[in-house]
Parts: sequence; structure tokens; C-alpha cells
Amino acid sequence: MALMPWSAELELGIAKIDEQHRWLVDRINALHDELGQPAPNRQTLGDILESLVDYTMNHFIVEEEIFKRHGYPQTDAHLGEHNAFTGRIIVLLDQFQDGAEVGSETMALLKDWLTHHILVVDKAYVPFFRAQGLS
Ligand SMILES: [Fe+2]
Ligand SMILES: [Fe+2]
Repeated sequence: MALMPWSAELELGIAKIDEQHRWLVDRINALHDELGQPAPNRQTLGDILESLVDYTMNHFIVEEEIFKRHGYPQTDAHLGEHNAFTGRIIVLLDQFQDGAEVGSETMALLKDWLTHHILVVDKAYVPFFRAQGLS
């Protein structure tokens, strides 16, 4: 069972953004699935974590470029959320590379943060993006 099943609720209706959110959800589920194996493979966990950090940062840049190009009024607050999360996942990756395990707290953080961010923080820009003709 996926930790975070994709649902219509998570769709913002902006194709490029939805595709990237879906990829992030898929990787969080992959991390959860690997942890559910009888003997989770550390290399696999590290690869997924690294890809999550890279892709998350890339996704944030994509959103932030749209904000800047179109003058989104909530840019500063939104960037603050992105930067705080980026900081946290970089620390998680560092700790993992120093030998820490990936535990249920980490999985809950990833799931809860991304769910809240998509449903509340990202969703808030949809009317603005739509008014700019993005779909
Ligand atoms: Fe997003
Ligand atoms: Fe965002």
C-alpha cells in the first residue's frame, strides 16, 4: 500500500506542476516501499533520497521562476517555505550519509510536508497562475 496515494485532490490543474508533484509523491512512496522490504537496501534508499533532494530543488526553482516572471504577490512567503524544507531534507540526506537510518518520523515529515504544501501553499497560487494563462 502506497504511503501517499496520488489523488485528484492533489491535482492543481497545471500540467507541468502536477507532473512534478506526482514524481515527488512517487519517490516518497518508493522510499516507503523500500523501507518495508525485509532487508531494505541502503544504496537504494540513498539513491531515492538523493533524487528527492535534487528533484525537489529543481521543482522549487520551476515554481519560483514562474512567481518572479509573473510577479506573484506571495513569492516571499512561498520561498520561505521552500527554503525551510530544502534545508531540512539536505540535513536528512547528510545524516543518512553519516550512517543514520530513515525512520517513520522522516517518512511522516516528507508525506505531511508535501501534502500540506500542495494542498494549501501551492494551491493558493492556482487562481493567480490561471489568471496569467498557465494551464
Ligand atoms: Fe510545488
Ligand atoms: Fe511550492
